[in-house]
Amino acid sequence: MSSQTQVRRTTAPQIAARKGGEPIVSLTSYHAHTAAIVDKYADFILVGDSLGMVMHGMDSTVGVPLDLMIMHGKAVVRGTKQALIVVDMPFGTYEESPSVAFRNAARIMKDTGCGAVKLEGGARMAETIRFLADRGIPVMAHVGLTPQSVNTMGGFKVQGRDEAAWQVHIDDARAVAEAGAFAVVVEGVVEDLADRITEAVEIPTIGIGASARCDGQILVLEDMLGLNPWTPKFVKVYGQLGPMIEDSVKRYAQDVKDRAFPTEDEVYR
Ligand code: KIV
Repeated sequence: MSSQTQVRRTTAPQIAARKGGEPIVSLTSYHAHTAAIVDKYADFILVGDSLGMVMHGMDSTVGVPLDLMIMHGKAVVRGTKQALIVVDMPFGTYEESPSVAFRNAARIMKDTGCGAVKLEGGARMAETIRFLADRGIPVMAHVGLTPQSVNTMGGFKVQGRDEAAWQVHIDDARAVAEAGAFAVVVEGVVEDLADRITEAVEIPTIGIGASARCDGQILVLEDMLGLNPWTPKFVKVYGQLGPMIEDSVKRYAQDVKDRAFPTEDEVYR
């Protein structure tokens, strides 16, 4: 008889049950190797469509294709054992109708093996969230600053600076929670609004640029590792990977020029 203990993956209902409890830890990851490291510490990993900007040099997430999300989603699922894997639904794959959203969400789940999908939008997406959740697809919602709407928002702007606009965001969060989302990302909102949203809903709020007044936090991994040349102001940077990679590449280039490699004797000894 085997004495191996199988590690079970965190599920969407387990994340939902963490409302008001121990803070939920999350990061994005797009690759098997980084995901394997993040997996040891994160409750869920988001394969975010930010990969279009971070990895593929796009100006926004609007152009990210579904197939790209699926390819990166597969890599992250392969590299991990325990975190819940959430894959972003890219722009244009869910807004048209609940049935289009279901078809694409089901494809993401079947092809990648992930445990949930995320989509952007509040009250306007409630019907779709209910449709998916009722049919076996756990949905994480995303309110506040929603990057896929960059063209209608006129830029990536902090939301709720004007208190008069708070109610819309609170209503958005309530609508997605009532529709059956198991958690909601709250992006780019002022601290007091984050607090009000967290109080208003019975599902965990996951903040990004939304202060500590949420039930959990998410950051883009490359931002917190110091890999991107530019980092949003709200990000606490924990590493200096960009300069480290540059220094390593510089030393490698010098070694090539100096022919400073192990000799055949050293390699095959
Ligand atoms: O795409 C992404 O990485 C995200 C996070 C910023 C929450 O949606």
